[in-house]
Amino acid sequence: MTNEQTLEPAIRVRGIQKSFKDLHVLRGVDFDVERGSIFALLGSNGAGKTTVVRILSTLLKADAGTASVHGFDVAAKPGDVRESISLTGQFAAVDEVLSGRENLALIAKLRHLKNPGAIADELLERFSLTEAGGRKAATYSGGMRRRLDIAMSLIGNPPVIFLDEPTTGLDPQARIEVWQTVRQLANGGTTVLLTTQYLDEAEQLADRIAILHKGTIIQNGTLSELKQLLPPATVEYVEKQPSLEDVFLALVGDTGETGDDAENTDSDTAAGGVRAGRDPR
Ligand SMILES: Nc1ncnc2c1ncn2[C@@H]1O[C@H](COP(=O)(O)OP(=O)(O)OP(=O)(O)O)[C@@H](O)[C@H]1O
Ligand SMILES: [Mg+2]
Repeated sequence: MTNEQTLEPAIRVRGIQKSFKDLHVLRGVDFDVERGSIFALLGSNGAGKTTVVRILSTLLKADAGTASVHGFDVAAKPGDVRESISLTGQFAAVDEVLSGRENLALIAKLRHLKNPGAIADELLERFSLTEAGGRKAATYSGGMRRRLDIAMSLIGNPPVIFLDEPTTGLDPQARIEVWQTVRQLANGGTTVLLTTQYLDEAEQLADRIAILHKGTIIQNGTLSELKQLLPPATVEYVEKQPSLEDVFLALVGDTGETGDDAENTDSDTAAGGVRAGRDPR
Protein backbone atom coordinates (compact mmCIF):
# COMPACT_ATOMS: atom_id res chain seq x y z
CA MET A 1 0.00 0.00 0.00
CA THR A 2 1.42 3.41 -0.92
CA ASN A 3 1.49 6.35 1.43
CA GLU A 4 -1.06 8.14 -0.64
CA GLN A 5 -3.54 5.30 -0.17
CA THR A 6 -3.01 5.05 3.55
CA LEU A 7 -3.60 8.77 4.03
CA GLU A 8 -7.16 8.74 2.79
CA PRO A 9 -9.79 6.68 4.58
CA ALA A 10 -11.76 4.20 2.47
CA ILE A 11 -14.98 5.93 3.46
CA ARG A 12 -15.34 9.51 4.61
CA VAL A 13 -18.69 10.94 5.65
CA ARG A 14 -19.15 14.58 6.63
CA GLY A 15 -22.33 16.34 7.68
CA ILE A 16 -24.67 14.06 5.75
CA GLN A 17 -28.33 14.97 6.10
CA LYS A 18 -31.38 13.28 4.65
CA SER A 19 -35.10 13.80 5.12
CA PHE A 20 -38.06 11.88 3.79
CA LYS A 21 -40.77 14.54 3.67
CA ASP A 22 -41.10 15.71 7.30
CA LEU A 23 -38.99 12.92 8.70
CA HIS A 24 -35.45 14.24 9.30
CA VAL A 25 -33.68 10.88 9.41
CA LEU A 26 -30.03 11.95 9.13
CA ARG A 27 -29.14 15.23 10.83
CA GLY A 28 -25.41 15.53 10.18
CA VAL A 29 -23.63 12.19 10.11
CA ASP A 30 -19.82 12.12 10.30
CA PHE A 31 -17.43 9.20 10.33
CA ASP A 32 -14.36 7.73 8.65
CA VAL A 33 -13.63 4.11 7.86
CA GLU A 34 -9.97 3.14 7.60
CA ARG A 35 -8.88 0.98 4.69
CA GLY A 36 -8.96 -2.73 5.35
CA SER A 37 -10.97 -2.34 8.53
CA ILE A 38 -14.39 -3.55 9.60
CA PHE A 39 -16.71 -0.77 10.70
CA ALA A 40 -20.07 -1.52 12.31
CA LEU A 41 -22.96 0.91 12.24
CA LEU A 42 -25.37 0.19 15.06
CA GLY A 43 -28.76 1.70 15.62
CA SER A 44 -32.34 0.97 16.53
CA ASN A 45 -34.91 0.13 13.88
CA GLY A 46 -35.50 3.16 11.73
CA ALA A 47 -32.35 4.96 12.96
CA GLY A 48 -31.21 5.43 9.36
CA LYS A 49 -28.54 2.74 8.89
CA THR A 50 -29.85 1.55 5.54
CA THR A 51 -30.28 5.17 4.49
CA VAL A 52 -26.56 5.79 5.16
CA VAL A 53 -25.63 2.68 3.17
CA ARG A 54 -27.89 3.71 0.28
CA ILE A 55 -26.29 7.16 0.15
CA LEU A 56 -22.76 5.71 0.23
CA SER A 57 -23.61 3.23 -2.51
CA THR A 58 -25.10 6.03 -4.68
CA LEU A 59 -28.65 4.63 -4.61
CA LEU A 60 -29.90 7.72 -2.81
CA LYS A 61 -28.82 11.38 -2.84
CA ALA A 62 -28.08 13.18 0.41
CA ASP A 63 -29.77 16.54 1.04
CA ALA A 64 -26.58 18.03 2.51
CA GLY A 65 -23.04 17.07 3.42
CA THR A 66 -20.37 15.13 1.55
CA ALA A 67 -19.23 11.54 1.38
CA SER A 68 -16.46 9.78 -0.47
CA VAL A 69 -15.84 6.09 -1.03
CA HIS A 70 -12.46 4.78 -2.21
CA GLY A 71 -11.48 8.41 -2.83
CA PHE A 72 -14.48 9.20 -5.05
CA ASP A 73 -17.16 11.69 -4.09
CA VAL A 74 -20.51 9.90 -4.12
CA ALA A 75 -22.35 12.85 -5.67
CA ALA A 76 -19.73 13.88 -8.25
CA LYS A 77 -18.37 10.43 -9.23
CA PRO A 78 -21.17 7.91 -8.71
CA GLY A 79 -19.91 5.66 -11.53
CA ASP A 80 -16.43 5.38 -10.00
CA VAL A 81 -17.96 4.71 -6.59
CA ARG A 82 -20.12 1.92 -8.01
CA GLU A 83 -17.07 0.30 -9.60
CA SER A 84 -15.31 0.31 -6.23
CA ILE A 85 -18.03 -1.24 -4.11
CA SER A 86 -20.41 -4.07 -3.68
CA LEU A 87 -23.60 -3.99 -1.71
CA THR A 88 -25.31 -6.89 -0.02
CA GLY A 89 -28.65 -5.58 1.02
CA GLN A 90 -31.05 -6.43 3.77
CA PHE A 91 -32.88 -8.54 1.18
CA ALA A 92 -30.93 -11.06 -0.89
CA ALA A 93 -30.33 -10.53 -4.59
CA VAL A 94 -30.13 -14.23 -5.43
CA ASP A 95 -32.12 -15.47 -8.42
CA GLU A 96 -34.00 -18.48 -7.13
CA VAL A 97 -34.61 -20.10 -10.50
CA LEU A 98 -30.88 -20.36 -11.20
CA SER A 99 -28.45 -22.68 -9.48
CA GLY A 100 -25.84 -21.24 -7.14
CA ARG A 101 -23.18 -21.75 -9.80
CA GLU A 102 -25.32 -20.07 -12.48
CA ASN A 103 -25.99 -17.09 -10.19
CA LEU A 104 -22.26 -16.59 -9.69
CA ALA A 105 -21.33 -17.11 -13.32
CA LEU A 106 -24.03 -14.67 -14.42
CA ILE A 107 -22.59 -11.87 -12.27
CA ALA A 108 -19.07 -12.65 -13.51
CA LYS A 109 -20.33 -12.40 -17.09
CA LEU A 110 -22.12 -9.14 -16.37
CA ARG A 111 -18.85 -7.79 -14.99
CA HIS A 112 -17.09 -8.87 -18.22
CA LEU A 113 -14.69 -11.17 -16.41
CA LYS A 114 -12.86 -14.01 -18.14
CA ASN A 115 -13.71 -17.62 -17.18
CA PRO A 116 -16.99 -16.99 -15.33
CA GLY A 117 -17.34 -20.73 -14.70
CA ALA A 118 -13.95 -20.93 -12.98
CA ILE A 119 -14.74 -17.85 -10.87
CA ALA A 120 -18.04 -19.45 -9.85
CA ASP A 121 -16.33 -22.71 -8.88
CA GLU A 122 -13.68 -20.92 -6.82
CA LEU A 123 -16.32 -18.96 -4.89
CA LEU A 124 -18.51 -22.03 -4.33
CA GLU A 125 -15.48 -23.74 -2.83
CA ARG A 126 -14.62 -20.75 -0.64
CA PHE A 127 -18.15 -20.54 0.73
CA SER A 128 -18.57 -24.31 1.22
CA LEU A 129 -21.26 -24.45 -1.45
CA THR A 130 -19.56 -26.77 -3.94
CA GLU A 131 -21.95 -29.65 -3.32
CA ALA A 132 -25.02 -27.45 -3.58
CA GLY A 133 -23.64 -25.51 -6.56
CA GLY A 134 -25.73 -27.30 -9.17
CA ARG A 135 -29.02 -27.01 -7.28
CA LYS A 136 -31.56 -24.23 -7.73
CA ALA A 137 -31.04 -21.49 -5.16
CA ALA A 138 -34.74 -21.86 -4.29
CA THR A 139 -33.79 -25.08 -2.47
CA TYR A 140 -31.09 -23.42 -0.33
CA SER A 141 -31.43 -22.75 3.38
CA GLY A 142 -31.34 -19.14 4.61
CA GLY A 143 -27.68 -19.44 5.57
CA MET A 144 -26.68 -20.93 2.21
CA ARG A 145 -28.56 -18.22 0.37
CA ARG A 146 -26.89 -15.51 2.43
CA ARG A 147 -23.45 -17.02 1.76
CA LEU A 148 -24.25 -17.17 -1.96
CA ASP A 149 -25.39 -13.54 -1.80
CA ILE A 150 -22.11 -12.45 -0.20
CA ALA A 151 -20.13 -14.59 -2.66
CA MET A 152 -21.92 -12.84 -5.55
CA SER A 153 -21.00 -9.45 -4.11
CA LEU A 154 -17.29 -10.37 -4.06
CA ILE A 155 -17.02 -10.99 -7.80
CA GLY A 156 -14.57 -8.53 -9.28
CA ASN A 157 -12.85 -8.00 -5.91
CA PRO A 158 -14.33 -4.62 -4.97
CA PRO A 159 -12.13 -2.79 -2.44
CA VAL A 160 -15.10 -1.66 -0.34
CA ILE A 161 -18.09 -3.77 0.59
CA PHE A 162 -21.31 -2.81 2.31
CA LEU A 163 -23.17 -5.49 4.22
CA ASP A 164 -26.58 -4.36 5.43
CA GLU A 165 -27.59 -6.72 8.25
CA PRO A 166 -25.59 -9.65 6.85
CA THR A 167 -26.75 -12.22 9.39
CA THR A 168 -30.32 -11.25 10.19
CA GLY A 169 -32.45 -14.36 10.32
CA LEU A 170 -29.53 -16.80 10.29
CA ASP A 171 -28.99 -19.49 12.87
CA PRO A 172 -25.90 -19.27 15.11
CA GLN A 173 -23.82 -21.65 12.99
CA ALA A 174 -24.60 -19.80 9.76
CA ARG A 175 -23.83 -16.49 11.47
CA ILE A 176 -20.41 -17.78 12.51
CA GLU A 177 -19.73 -18.84 8.93
CA VAL A 178 -20.64 -15.40 7.66
CA TRP A 179 -18.44 -13.81 10.34
CA GLN A 180 -15.49 -15.93 9.24
CA THR A 181 -16.07 -14.79 5.67
CA VAL A 182 -16.16 -11.15 6.70
CA ARG A 183 -12.95 -11.52 8.72
CA GLN A 184 -11.21 -13.16 5.76
CA LEU A 185 -12.28 -10.27 3.57
CA ALA A 186 -10.84 -7.68 5.92
CA ASN A 187 -7.64 -9.70 6.35
CA GLY A 188 -7.30 -9.61 2.58
CA GLY A 189 -7.44 -5.80 2.64
CA THR A 190 -11.11 -5.26 1.79
CA THR A 191 -12.85 -2.50 3.71
CA VAL A 192 -16.14 -3.63 5.22
CA LEU A 193 -18.96 -1.41 6.46
CA LEU A 194 -21.69 -3.45 8.04
CA THR A 195 -24.91 -2.54 9.73
CA THR A 196 -26.29 -4.80 12.36
CA GLN A 197 -28.96 -5.10 14.99
CA TYR A 198 -26.89 -7.73 16.80
CA LEU A 199 -24.55 -6.18 19.33
CA ASP A 200 -22.55 -9.39 19.65
CA GLU A 201 -21.92 -9.26 15.91
CA ALA A 202 -20.32 -5.84 16.30
CA GLU A 203 -18.37 -7.07 19.32
CA GLN A 204 -17.09 -10.08 17.37
CA LEU A 205 -16.21 -8.42 14.11
CA ALA A 206 -15.74 -4.70 14.17
CA ASP A 207 -12.52 -2.75 14.53
CA ARG A 208 -14.66 0.32 15.19
CA ILE A 209 -18.28 0.68 16.16
CA ALA A 210 -20.46 3.74 15.63
CA ILE A 211 -23.89 4.25 17.14
CA LEU A 212 -26.42 6.14 15.03
CA HIS A 213 -29.16 7.70 17.14
CA LYS A 214 -31.59 10.55 16.48
CA GLY A 215 -29.89 11.37 13.21
CA THR A 216 -26.26 11.63 14.33
CA ILE A 217 -23.38 9.41 15.36
CA ILE A 218 -23.50 9.68 19.13
CA GLN A 219 -20.49 7.46 19.78
CA ASN A 220 -17.70 6.08 17.61
CA GLY A 221 -14.83 4.02 18.94
CA THR A 222 -13.24 0.65 19.42
CA LEU A 223 -15.05 -1.88 21.56
CA SER A 224 -12.78 -1.17 24.52
CA GLU A 225 -13.25 2.59 24.11
CA LEU A 226 -17.02 2.15 24.14
CA LYS A 227 -16.85 -0.09 27.18
CA GLN A 228 -14.87 2.55 29.04
CA LEU A 229 -17.84 4.93 28.72
CA LEU A 230 -19.49 3.06 31.56
CA PRO A 231 -17.69 2.28 34.81
CA PRO A 232 -17.29 -1.45 35.26
CA ALA A 233 -20.14 -2.59 37.48
CA THR A 234 -18.64 -4.13 40.60
CA VAL A 235 -20.03 -6.12 43.49
CA GLU A 236 -18.10 -7.17 46.48
CA TYR A 237 -16.44 -10.25 45.01
CA VAL A 238 -17.07 -10.08 41.26
CA GLU A 239 -15.97 -7.47 38.78
CA LYS A 240 -18.32 -7.28 35.83
CA GLN A 241 -17.36 -5.58 32.56
CA PRO A 242 -20.29 -3.92 30.82
CA SER A 243 -21.22 -5.66 27.60
CA LEU A 244 -21.62 -3.66 24.43
CA GLU A 245 -25.36 -4.14 24.91
CA ASP A 246 -25.16 -2.31 28.25
CA VAL A 247 -23.25 0.54 26.63
CA PHE A 248 -25.70 0.71 23.74
CA LEU A 249 -28.81 0.74 25.91
CA ALA A 250 -27.32 3.32 28.26
CA LEU A 251 -26.54 5.61 25.34
CA VAL A 252 -29.70 5.08 23.34
CA GLY A 253 -32.10 4.41 26.19
CA ASP A 254 -34.09 1.23 26.50
CA THR A 255 -37.53 2.75 26.17
CA GLY A 256 -38.08 1.25 22.72
CA GLU A 257 -38.37 4.72 21.21
CA THR A 258 -36.18 5.40 18.19
CA GLY A 259 -36.10 9.11 18.94
CA ASP A 260 -38.26 12.21 18.59
CA ASP A 261 -39.59 10.96 15.30
CA ALA A 262 -40.44 7.48 16.47
CA GLU A 263 -44.15 8.03 16.11
CA ASN A 264 -43.67 9.13 12.49
CA THR A 265 -41.72 6.14 11.31
CA ASP A 266 -43.16 3.55 9.00
CA SER A 267 -44.94 0.86 10.88
CA ASP A 268 -42.84 -1.88 9.31
CA THR A 269 -39.61 -0.51 10.73
CA ALA A 270 -40.79 1.23 13.87
CA ALA A 271 -42.66 -1.65 15.42
CA GLY A 272 -39.65 -3.28 17.07
CA GLY A 273 -38.22 -0.24 18.82
CA VAL A 274 -34.81 -1.08 20.21
CA ARG A 275 -34.43 -4.46 18.62
CA ALA A 276 -30.68 -4.74 18.87
CA GLY A 277 -29.59 -8.04 20.34
CA ARG A 278 -32.97 -8.75 21.87
CA ASP A 279 -35.01 -9.86 18.94
CA PRO A 280 -36.03 -13.48 19.40
CA ARG A 281 -36.19 -14.06 15.62
N1 LIG B 1 -37.80 5.90 0.67
C1 LIG B 1 -38.30 6.26 1.86
N2 LIG B 1 -39.41 7.02 1.96
C2 LIG B 1 -39.88 7.41 3.16
N3 LIG B 1 -39.34 7.09 4.35
C3 LIG B 1 -38.23 6.34 4.31
C4 LIG B 1 -37.65 5.87 3.08
N4 LIG B 1 -36.56 5.15 3.37
C5 LIG B 1 -36.46 5.14 4.71
N5 LIG B 1 -37.46 5.86 5.28
C6 LIG B 1 -37.65 6.08 6.73
O1 LIG B 1 -36.41 6.57 7.24
C7 LIG B 1 -36.16 6.00 8.52
C8 LIG B 1 -34.82 5.30 8.49
O2 LIG B 1 -34.94 4.14 7.70
P1 LIG B 1 -33.74 3.12 7.49
O3 LIG B 1 -34.23 2.05 6.62
O4 LIG B 1 -32.52 3.86 7.05
O5 LIG B 1 -33.52 2.60 8.97
P2 LIG B 1 -32.60 1.41 9.51
O6 LIG B 1 -31.74 1.98 10.58
O7 LIG B 1 -31.94 0.72 8.38
O8 LIG B 1 -33.70 0.45 10.18
P3 LIG B 1 -33.76 -1.18 10.28
O9 LIG B 1 -32.95 -1.53 11.46
O10 LIG B 1 -35.21 -1.45 10.51
O11 LIG B 1 -33.26 -1.75 8.99
C9 LIG B 1 -37.33 5.09 8.82
O12 LIG B 1 -38.26 5.80 9.61
C10 LIG B 1 -37.92 4.80 7.47
O13 LIG B 1 -39.29 4.55 7.55
MG1 LIG C 1 -32.01 -1.18 7.58
